[in-house]
Parts: sequence; C-alpha cells; structure tokens
Amino acid sequence: MFSLDYYDFGTPPSEAAELVTLEIDGRPVTVPAGTSVMRAAALARTQIPKLCATDTLKAFGSCRLCLVEIEGRKGYPASCTTEVAPGMKVKTQSETLDRLRRGVMELYLSDHPAELVSDQRPVRTEIREMAQRIGCTQNRYGADGARHVGASVDDSNPYFQFDPNACIVCSRCVRACDEVQGTFALTIEGRGFASRVVASQDEGFLASECVSCGACVEACPTTALQEKTLLAHPLPERTVTTTCGYCGVGCSLNAEMKGETVVRMAPDREGKANHGHACVKGRFAYGYATHEDRVRTPLIRAKITDPWREATWDEAFQYAASEFKRLQAKYGRDSVGGITSSRCTNEEAYLVQKLVRAAFGNNNVDTCARVCHSPTGYGLKHTLGESAGTQAFTSIMKTDVVLLIGANPTEGHPVFASQLKQRLRQGAHLIVVDPRTIGIVRAPHVQADYHLQLRPGTNVAVMNALSHVVVTEGLTRESYIAERCEQPSYEKWKAFVAHPDRSPEATADVTGVPADQVRAAARLYAQGGNAAIYYGLGVTEHSQGTTMVMCIANLAMATGNLGREGVGVNPLRGQNNVQGSCDMGSFPHELTGYRHISDQATRALFESAWGVVLEREPGLRIPNMFEAALDGTFKGMYVQGEDMAQSDPNTLHVTAALSALECLVVQDLFLNETAKYAHVFLPGSSFLEKDGTFTNAERRVSRVRKVMEPLAGLEDWQITVRLSNALGYPMNYAHPSEIMDEIASLTPTFTGLNYDKLDRLGSIQWPCNARAPDGTPTMHIGEFVRGKGKFFVTDYVPTTERTNSRYPLLLTTGRVLTQYNVGAQTRRTQNVVWHDEDRLEIHPHDAETRGVNTGDWVGVASRAGDTVMRALVTDRVQPGVVYTTFHFPESGANVVTTENSDWATNCPEYKVTAVQVIRVTQPALWQQRFREISQRQRILRGDRVSQT
Ligand code: SF4
Ligand code: SF4
Ligand code: FES
Repeated sequence: MFSLDYYDFGTPPSEAAELVTLEIDGRPVTVPAGTSVMRAAALARTQIPKLCATDTLKAFGSCRLCLVEIEGRKGYPASCTTEVAPGMKVKTQSETLDRLRRGVMELYLSDHPAELVSDQRPVRTEIREMAQRIGCTQNRYGADGARHVGASVDDSNPYFQFDPNACIVCSRCVRACDEVQGTFALTIEGRGFASRVVASQDEGFLASECVSCGACVEACPTTALQEKTLLAHPLPERTVTTTCGYCGVGCSLNAEMKGETVVRMAPDREGKANHGHACVKGRFAYGYATHEDRVRTPLIRAKITDPWREATWDEAFQYAASEFKRLQAKYGRDSVGGITSSRCTNEEAYLVQKLVRAAFGNNNVDTCARVCHSPTGYGLKHTLGESAGTQAFTSIMKTDVVLLIGANPTEGHPVFASQLKQRLRQGAHLIVVDPRTIGIVRAPHVQADYHLQLRPGTNVAVMNALSHVVVTEGLTRESYIAERCEQPSYEKWKAFVAHPDRSPEATADVTGVPADQVRAAARLYAQGGNAAIYYGLGVTEHSQGTTMVMCIANLAMATGNLGREGVGVNPLRGQNNVQGSCDMGSFPHELTGYRHISDQATRALFESAWGVVLEREPGLRIPNMFEAALDGTFKGMYVQGEDMAQSDPNTLHVTAALSALECLVVQDLFLNETAKYAHVFLPGSSFLEKDGTFTNAERRVSRVRKVMEPLAGLEDWQITVRLSNALGYPMNYAHPSEIMDEIASLTPTFTGLNYDKLDRLGSIQWPCNARAPDGTPTMHIGEFVRGKGKFFVTDYVPTTERTNSRYPLLLTTGRVLTQYNVGAQTRRTQNVVWHDEDRLEIHPHDAETRGVNTGDWVGVASRAGDTVMRALVTDRVQPGVVYTTFHFPESGANVVTTENSDWATNCPEYKVTAVQVIRVTQPALWQQRFREISQRQRILRGDRVSQT
C-alpha cells in the first residue's frame, strides 16, 4: 500500500525529446511525445481516477476507471494507455464519465469486503480514496452474487500478508514484481472471475521465490497486500524522509510514524538512488533498533574479567578519558587510536578522526573500509585521480555492456540489481567474472552472455588477458587515449599486456577460464557500445586488490569507457556509509577529501581551523594496531560502530590483540563480539535516532533524519563530542549541520554542500563546489581529476595462499540478501526466517568424495584455524572451491581466513583461503571456547542482554 500523500502521475515519464501540445479540460498542456493522457493531465495537476495504473509501472489498461472523452474519437478511451497527440482535445470530467466510472467502481465494490470501503476501519487505501472521489461508496448489486470472500489469508511472510478477499486482481503486484524488482515470482492464475494472484507455484509467499522486497505491497491499491504493522497502527501520524542504514545503495525511505513507533518504512519515489524501490532489509528489517538487546546505559569495568557496572554518561566519559590520558602518559602519545564507523554518519566519522588527530594528537585512525574497499581508494586515486566510483546508478540505463566483477548485486546491492536487470531485459549485454554462479548469471529473462568462472585469486591474470585481447586485436580507442591519458604510461602498459604470456591461451591453465570465452568477452566489452564495469569485494579483498582496481581502470581508459553516461568504473560499496567514512579522512594517511597528511598546505588549513599542530606522519592501520597491541606498544582504542572481533580476518589473532589492550572503548548498539574485550561501553544510536548524512556508492550525500529520540539519550556524534571534551580538546556543535559546514569549509569537494541545499535538492553527488554547485553525477567528463589518466603495469603475482594436499580446496566468502555484514542488526529481525546460520557451499563432486550431504556438520580447517559449520551441497560453486557467509559469529568464518593482505592497503585476502573440509560430529575447539567466553560475558553483564 503506497503513500497516498505521494502525487502519482499514473504512468512513467516518456524519454522522448519531441514535445506535443494538447488541450486538457480546455487548458493547453505541453509534454514529451509518448506521454499518456493520464500523465499529461497529472502534470497539469488534474488527477484522473485510476486503479490499475501507477507511475512506477507500464500502463496496463485493465480497470477502466480512467476513461476520458477525446474529441473526434469514438467511445471512452482509457487515459493510461492512450498516448497524447498534437492538438488532441481531452475532457476528463463529464456527467457521462462520472456515471461510467461509478458503474465500474460499483462492480469492484460488489466483490470487495465492505469494511475496506466503509469507515469502519480507519485505513487509507487507494481504492477507498478513488471510491470517495467519484462519489461511490455503495453498490447496487449487493452481496448475493459470486464473490472472492472467504479465501484464507496468506500470512506466511513475516512482514506482510496477502488477503485474497480484498484483491481486485488489478495485477499491479504482479507487474511490480516483474518490472520493478525483476523476480517474476507472482502470476495471475485462472481466467475471468476465477483469476487470482499466486506466488510461484501457488505455494504461499514465504515458500515462493519472493524476495520480500515489498514492491508488490507498495503497488497494491487495496489492503490485499499489506504490512502487518499496519494492522496494529493503520494510520501513521507523520512521515520523515531518511536514508536506509544498511547497504551502499543508499535508498531513500519514508519512515511513517505513530508517536515514537515506526509503523511503516516506505521507499521514497523521489529517492534518486532507488526511485521508489527497496529491499527486504531497508523496507522491513528495522526492528533491531528497538530490540531488547539494545544497551541503554554506559558500562564500565577495569578488567575484561570483571562484571560490567552501569555508569552515568559523565562517569563513562571521565573514565575513558582518564584511561586514554594515563596510557599516553605511560606508553607515549602513539599508544592509542580510534576506528571510525562506516555505519555511522559522515559527521560522526569526521568527528572521530578529528578526535584522534586533535585530542589524541596522532594519526592512528582507520576505518572498516580497510577490510573492504581500501584498494578502490588507492587504485582509482592513482589512475584516475579520485577515490570513488564514476557514475550515478541511473547511468546503467544507457549502458550496452555490463562487466560485473566480483560482485553479487542481487544479494548485496539488491535495489541496484533491480535496475541492472531492467536494463539487461531491455537488451544490454552482461559479462560476469566470478568463481560462483551468482544469481544474475541466469535470472528470469536475464542470461549472462559470458560467465568467466575463474579460480579464486586469479583476477589480475583474467583482466590482463582481457586487456591483451583488446590491445592485440586493435580494439583500443587511440584518439581518446591520446587526448586524455599519459602516453608513456600507456605505451608501457600496452607493451606489457600485449606480451604473449598475458594472452588468454597462456593464462587459461592458471585462471581456469577457457581462452575463447575471454576473447569473446573482451571483444564484446570493447566493441559493444557503452561499456561499464561494476565491481565488489571479489576485486578488492585479495593480495592483489589494488592491482586489480588498477587493471579495471586501465581497461576502461584503453577502451574510452570513462567520462560520460553509460560507462565508467563503479565500486559497489558494502556498508551504508563506507564511501562517506573514507571521504571524511578516516584513513591514517589522509585528511578529508583524500588529501595526504604530509601535505603542508592541507595540514595548515586544518591546524588553523582546529587550533592544534597535526602530526605529519601517517598513523597505524588496523592490522598495524593489532600487531602493536601484541608487541605491547599500542594500549588503547576507541571503536565507533565496528565489530572487528567478528569481521576482521584471523579471529584468534584479533581477539588476542584486543585482549592485550588496557583500555578498549566500544561505542555500539549491542554488546557485540568486540565488546567482550572492552572496558568501556558507550551505547550508540541507530540511524533512526540521529541527524546527519550518509554517502552511497554513487558519491550521493543524503540526509539521515531523526525519527525517534536516542534510546540511550545521546546521538553518536554527541558521544564523540563529550568524549573529546573530557579529553581536554573542546568540541562544540549544536547540530550535525554545523559539523557539515565545517567539513565543507575544509574540503574542496564539499564546499558547496550544506543541509539547506540537501533539503532543497533531496541528495547531492560530490564534488559539490563552485564548479558543480548542484553536484556531479558523472566524473571525469572532458578530463580526469588527476589531469591525464595514468596506466599502471599490473603484473599478476599469485597469492602465497596455495592449495596443497593438506588444504586442497579454496574457500571464498560473501553475503546473502537477508543478512547484513556481521549480522548484529539483521540477526535481531525476522530476517532469520530466511537465513539463520552460515553454511558451507560445496560442489557435489567434492562433497561426494568426502561423504558429505547437505545439512551435515563439516570441519573447515585452514592454516589460520578451524571451525565447524553445516554443509550445503550445490553446483553454484565449482569443484575445488567452497564458499560461506560470515553473518553469524558462532560459525567462525573469519577464524579460518588468514592475515594475507593487499600489498598496497593491507585489505585482507578474505576471498582466498586454502582449506580442507571433512565431515565431523562436534564443534571446533574454538567454538567451544567461544561459547564459554560468551557465557562468561553474559554473566558479567549481569542481566538479560544476550551475546548473540
Ligand atoms: S494483491 Fe493488490 S496489487 Fe495485487 S492484484 Fe490484488 S489488488 Fe492488485
Ligand atoms: S538496497 Fe541497500 S540501501 Fe536499499 S533498502 Fe536494501 S539495504 Fe537499504
Ligand atoms: S487506470 Fe487506466 S485502465 Fe486502470
């Protein structure tokens, strides 16, 4: 049920350049050719009654409520399916039209349970509003005829229900599932009066292929498909537009509120990243925000073996500050550091790095992007000049060839995946480079042209082979390169990739990809029109992550696929604000806007604004902090919204380092895995409880707006301010808008950005400054940010993580649609009905040789450690490769992953771990220890807070 406060234009806009003028109710209206009469009228602020039409779906013309009169035409055409014509004269209101519309509505009402159209239930639906608008709330036919009443309600889905009694078979849900989401899970079964909506093979919503994106619910004009929360609170009192707190797509959402309760989280049709769509996480999985596990009081303890004790905020800040000061006095200024959160706002990340640099007086600040997209920052900065993706998501609609590498958008970036599938259904080509047969390789009405199913760890060899074909077959765009790139670097790269050792034939044995497929894919990418690369952590989380990002930039430059719509290089960011946390100076070597800390002029700017002298040497990265902690030189850490004990590789190493700290301050929603090693716990605020901004994968800065008061009393930015004040470095902000003003004053790519402009424009893609006052949807138009694009030679260096007879399989990791990152949020929602444990995917061949069946417990052992999880036998993985997710701490996926990391950025090599898999009957030793530690910490917490 979509918001009736949204002004619905009835049909989608026409892209035609040609304009047509017609007359509607005597007034001239000019619209693009191809526009429907319904939309033209709506643009002229006349909304024609409708039921089966809505402006996110193609016109269907089934309900006949939108009839109009057109001079010179016979009958009463449906305005939703009738296109405008020059000079057309349309009448939207007349006695005859009123009568006809009432007749249609009466028929619907005769088959529609009375409570839905009377005032007995205070629910607002489109059908009720239309009935009232055309003055028809009764029907002449009574309830004697055949009716769709008495059918059982399908409430199998945890978030919404389907009540066939209220269904008018308008097909909006079916079309939304097809056109918007691209899952094709719903159909209309039967004919005429017997027709009805069914999910998959009529198996109920939960068991069907439905992915619970809510598009069907959003499209429904009745209460047939309805959020369950609306049964308790049918009439929200206010709506606040905010930004999803989950993934890097950054969907705009309307939080519909009753008091302090979120009644509905509806996708915002004006959201520029999502255009009225959302996924199961953003749309429904917000219940964690009020989960009973939320910690609402600061906690303190001297030792991690002590019980937690509740404290006041003041006491907690004073204690933490005195501990940090004690450590710096005893072990030196550099013995402490901080971690910013990619789940928090830009303003909050900015303040944490400011605290570290100004209050701690060192550069020991890092962020969780270290373990995901740090190679993107490094690789794109050096080749193109800017550490960010180049396009807006809508650019995909002008792409002819999509090269998707190491990303699984239908699981990780679902709303972007829906748009991508729309474009593929229109005929764009798809090349997938991935060790697994991910969903988009073969989806309804989508089939990848090529799936280069490489061996994990051979990305660079595959990219060099693709480039080899492009160069040796003369498919480069020499004029583009001559105009826009550094020629010597190009010549060097060209000679490098042209070498026969880089050919698809020479590398096929290593990569496992047949040479003819590589050749065909390279030709398609280079010659198929606008070609765009989208990539994910399957590119970056390798020992050659940065090299691979450079490979991508090289190929895009060599084929002229940068600097306009439809092309580009697009990292799909994992967490909601991973782009923003990087932009905000969270890395130890960079201030905001990716300016190196060693740059005297940049430092001087910040020193003058902050009133301190800044350290000029870069500080410690996260892995260096752990090493230093184990060496005894790093003693204190302030961690904002990051659960390293679960998310970082080699868990045993991480927890040993955390145990060695004398003061660990964790700021989070829940007592997470890292908090088991903490001395101070500062209860954080969810995205619903604060103001600020997030920056998504398109560089789009969007407002996060507070919809409820922070459960623990303070927003995260206020916590950092108070901690800094307690440390003796004063911070004084009345509102996050003031923090953004400070960021803008210090950051050339943000100088034009402020909250007023964000409120006015909805969202803005940086750079936003005097050159681009309303932001920059497409980067590198005309020239690259660094001036001339620079090619880098990208030697393939195999990872040292090799298989052998002891560890014969390669483990790679990823995520699922319904869970998010370490799962702390989604595990505390009903999303667990879809995924309640991490499983090990194993190919039938490897399973058979080990006597493993789906559901069996298997031990997974690597050089770093071993764990036990349940097996899932599937040919989604190739022989020799196993795969798992890392959403549940007890599965210990990161106990197994190693400390190998990217040569340039230390981004861990999560995607390649040599393992052995055997059938077992009991948990691993570490799992037994994990349970003991969890149990002990539960006791130390002394109340019902669970450690899940
Ligand atoms: S469930 Fe709703 S959207 Fe789907 S056909 Fe029925 S009334 Fe239309
Ligand atoms: S696609 Fe990402 S941003 Fe959009 S609703 Fe889903 S989780 Fe939220
Ligand atoms: S809205 Fe036009 S036929 Fe239904």
